[in-house]
Amino acid sequence: MTERGLFVTLEGGEGCGKSTQMRLLMERLRREGYTVTGNVEPGGTRIGKQIRAILLGAENLELSSPAELLLFFASRAQAVEQLIHPALEAGHVVVSDRFTDSSFAYQGVARGLGEPWIRDLEAIACGGLKPALTLCLDIDVEAGLARARARNLESTGKETRLDDESLAFHRKVREAYHLLMAREPERVRRIDAAPGIETVAQEIWNQLMPFLDAGSVLR
Ligand SMILES: Nc1ncnc2c1ncn2[C@@H]1O[C@H](COP(=O)(O)OP(=O)(O)OP(=O)(O)O)[C@@H](O)[C@H]1O
Ligand SMILES: [Mg+2]
Repeated sequence: MTERGLFVTLEGGEGCGKSTQMRLLMERLRREGYTVTGNVEPGGTRIGKQIRAILLGAENLELSSPAELLLFFASRAQAVEQLIHPALEAGHVVVSDRFTDSSFAYQGVARGLGEPWIRDLEAIACGGLKPALTLCLDIDVEAGLARARARNLESTGKETRLDDESLAFHRKVREAYHLLMAREPERVRRIDAAPGIETVAQEIWNQLMPFLDAGSVLR
């Protein structure tokens, strides 16, 4: 599978600032003349949005862990085929708010389902597609959750099933991301998410720039 574009993902726990930074990054890339495609997990496609409603619905407390795992990968499989591959083929910068690393951290490690299932499903759903660069926004678990809760108060607040997990669960998620950073330091870069929005955005840009220079992305 040869691709021309650049696949970048944003990762990290609840409230670390992924969606905020995704918006700023896409704006900046477009200002600089790049063609950009965005994907959000779960979601991204019409079918993905229907899956998202099941996954994040605060009422869906009885969703089993294997069902959750499969639904995340179902949404991802649809986005890979319908959105991400075509955009990469066309030479776009593709930015995804979460991808397979989230399944590793949340379902593989924090839920305890184990890594082998993640890798098997990754092969089925993504056909070997991996991000060239993963920007992992790292922040103290309580601080991230406080941001997410403040935001949820202002919104309709119906997508809180995972935000409402225990502190221990979210600490395991953070540790799993640290494991990925240690294991794949070239791909998975730690971004300190504690500073202000503009400072974090600049750090993300600094990390991304060499990949834009080196790649075969359209301008
Ligand atoms: N660097 C920052 N400093 C202070 N507040 C921030 C920062 N980044 C984001 N926020 C605020 O924190 C809240 C959560 O941010 P955002 O929704 O981008 O996080 P997220 O990682 O996408 O969360 P989720 O995992 O729930 O999707 C928002 O209200 C946002 O405005
Ligand atoms: Mg978000």
